[in-house]
Amino acid sequence: MTSVATLQTTEPAPARRPVPRRFVMCRPDHFDVRYSINPWMNPDAPVNRALALAQWDALRATFERYGHRVDVVPGEPGLPDMVFAANSGLAVGDRIMSARFTHPERAAEGPAFHRWFAGRGADVAAAAELNEGEGDFALIGGRFLAGTGFRSSAAAHREVELHFGIPVVSLELVDPRFYHLDTVLMVLDDTTIAYYPPAFDETSRTILAGLFPDAVEATDADAAVLGLNGVSDGYHVFLSPHATDLAAALRARGYLPVPVDVSELLKAGGGIKCCTLELH
Ligand code: ARG
Repeated sequence: MTSVATLQTTEPAPARRPVPRRFVMCRPDHFDVRYSINPWMNPDAPVNRALALAQWDALRATFERYGHRVDVVPGEPGLPDMVFAANSGLAVGDRIMSARFTHPERAAEGPAFHRWFAGRGADVAAAAELNEGEGDFALIGGRFLAGTGFRSSAAAHREVELHFGIPVVSLELVDPRFYHLDTVLMVLDDTTIAYYPPAFDETSRTILAGLFPDAVEATDADAAVLGLNGVSDGYHVFLSPHATDLAAALRARGYLPVPVDVSELLKAGGGIKCCTLELH
């Protein structure tokens, strides 16, 4: 293929391969911002639920168009943050653990997802420690990277390690804007992450630099639009259209950014990944 070779001016990016995923999402039928439990939420600013629904529908349709399976959990009245399905728990193989939320406003979401999974015949354990599911736990290469500092507790990291038999690497989050791990760290494939180092304490930054010397580092501008709150299938990276530095960095590494705008959900402090729980 000499025609391709002549186009290459620098080192070629490695070939990437998408792997089909199974996702669980929750339709934002009851989405709203009625309380403030993170710095993005302003209960006095109006929310356009019709727009939120349209953006969420588009996200779901995009996942499906790229070959991923989406199961939908019905939202519940009185739980305006339930759209953020990533927080509902962790699912690896036949093991599922439902979340235990930090804030009373979201507490009922844990049991709601628990019932949904149990109703489908799954063997579900309820977390005993404060655990906001994939908001703070990211599975990569046979280990969990886990955030603490704002939501999930260090004790939850140990509980997950024991329950799933998967080693957990604890990371300390230090910026209140980035209260969940998935707001500042995205798994791109089995060996690569993109992340925003300033959101972590020094020890955690050292750990991440050691584990992932090839990581993509996001800019302040990427982080400020929750650009790292995306979902990768190993090739396609579904992310905010406003994370332009990150999209360019991903393209240079051989990934294909697929922009999806969920700006209305950002009013609650959530993005694409927050809406998406993966069944690993
Ligand atoms: N309003 C929600 C909260 O503060 C947003 C959750 C976003 N989810 C996430 N995985 N980061 O809990």
